Amino acid sequence: MADPTDKMENIINLCKRRGFVFPSSDIYGGFNGFFDYGPLGVELKNNIKQAWWQDFVHRRDDIVGLDSSIIHHPTTWKASGHIENFTDPLVDCKESKMRYRADQLFFAPVRVAGETIGYISVLEDETMSAKAEEMANEMKRKLAKQGALEPLTLKDYTEAKPEEHVLIPSPATGKPGSLTPPRSFNMMFQTYVGAMQDASATAYLRPETAQGIFINFKNVVDTGRVKLPFGIAQIGKAFRNEINPRNFIFRSREFEQMEIEYFIAPSADWQTAHQGWIEGCLAWFESIGIPRAKLSLYPHPTEKLAHYSKGTTDIMFEFPFGVQELQGVAARGDFDLTQHSDVSGTKLDWFDEAAKARFIPHVIEPSVGVDRVFLALLTTAYHEDEVEGEKRIVLRLPARVAPFKAAVFPLLKNKPALVERAEALYRRLKKRLNVFYDESGNIGRRYRRQDEIGTPFGITIDFDTIEKDAGVTVRNRDTLEQVRMTEDEVVRFLDEQVNG
Ligand code: GAP
Repeated sequence: MADPTDKMENIINLCKRRGFVFPSSDIYGGFNGFFDYGPLGVELKNNIKQAWWQDFVHRRDDIVGLDSSIIHHPTTWKASGHIENFTDPLVDCKESKMRYRADQLFFAPVRVAGETIGYISVLEDETMSAKAEEMANEMKRKLAKQGALEPLTLKDYTEAKPEEHVLIPSPATGKPGSLTPPRSFNMMFQTYVGAMQDASATAYLRPETAQGIFINFKNVVDTGRVKLPFGIAQIGKAFRNEINPRNFIFRSREFEQMEIEYFIAPSADWQTAHQGWIEGCLAWFESIGIPRAKLSLYPHPTEKLAHYSKGTTDIMFEFPFGVQELQGVAARGDFDLTQHSDVSGTKLDWFDEAAKARFIPHVIEPSVGVDRVFLALLTTAYHEDEVEGEKRIVLRLPARVAPFKAAVFPLLKNKPALVERAEALYRRLKKRLNVFYDESGNIGRRYRRQDEIGTPFGITIDFDTIEKDAGVTVRNRDTLEQVRMTEDEVVRFLDEQVNG
């Protein structure tokens, strides 16, 4: 199962088959860029959010939570720069009506012995260099050109000179002449608030949760017991009209973010604070089961920084479709609070008692998508192996995030004494944790059904349990080891495995 495309397909199939993730509006043929989380998916997703909230809010003294509205006063987005800058460069193919992100459409002139014989274009992916090479060779062969093919220099479409736009072939038709020049496309979803449907009623679905935090800065400072440095955390939906949603839930149009705005004094060393947050986030990923070896850092080059950023480092993850952004950690300076102060006329500043001075704090922002953490966990956890001569799919999810923490089985369903004892343990465990009860099919098949959805422990009530009071067996999904424990020990054991 080395092929990464197969791995993604297997994961997507498992997600649908076992109720983790469904295409949105499935009965109407799906809706591109939107997904629904099923009974198991919502558990995994909630566990990720709960682990994040516990670790970054409850277990710290310097971060408080917030749950702001999704639709803010529309001026928020003018002040934040989103109306002007939250754009992607877009290119249309007039013939096929296909639409591409210009920075994901790559092209190169094909040169043979000093002469340009045409252009090739490819869409960005892991194999685009090889595809481009193949296309260039094919062009040379078709045009019967003699001489050596010069090395290709791929550039993205935003770098094309105006005179090149008509020479670059559309990826849809393979022919030049139909691509438009790139133009800016704002990714915010618009809506209308109230009964009027005109410009004065236009509002936006938030494209990030961050601005809800900035516009509540004064409310939190005035009502909380916060002391600088401190953070405000928020988890919630964000919406982006992505031109090219892709790679399952990796890039969708409706997703969830977990964001912290961590405010520091302007005199504080922001680089050290930024680095501290990068390391803290790496450690958190490891703690929930995303291995450090699959994570890397991408510091943004200064000339490519977002309009608000003094420095941004992305934490990258090795997804089956390539190394891609999992989280952004940005140093936003005082950009946002200054903008909202200036535009709203409300001072969003901090009074420093010791220095008897007022200033606008600076901010470090770790921002991560819940759906991307979900996918990173699934792709790490997914394995195929063999148990007792049978192929098995297993999700090696850590107990803290697994949808079910354990499954309880009576060895046989037609023995009332076994069933009664198993049901009693199930009811007892269910008061504390999400556990599953299953009495149908042979025990091997029951284990396998749980392995596939990531349940870390299988608890079996057998004849020794009821006849010799010998406890129950607890089978470990990953080591396949079985140990006997009393029911009291099981309760403590599971609590320790899940809550640490
Ligand atoms: N407030 C800063 C901000 O929103 P971002 O890099 O645009 O920064 C932060 O987004 C995180 O949100 C990303 O690292 C990613 O995990 C997630 N994210 C962004 N766009 C997404 C999309 N279309 N689908 C799923 N997750 C997305």
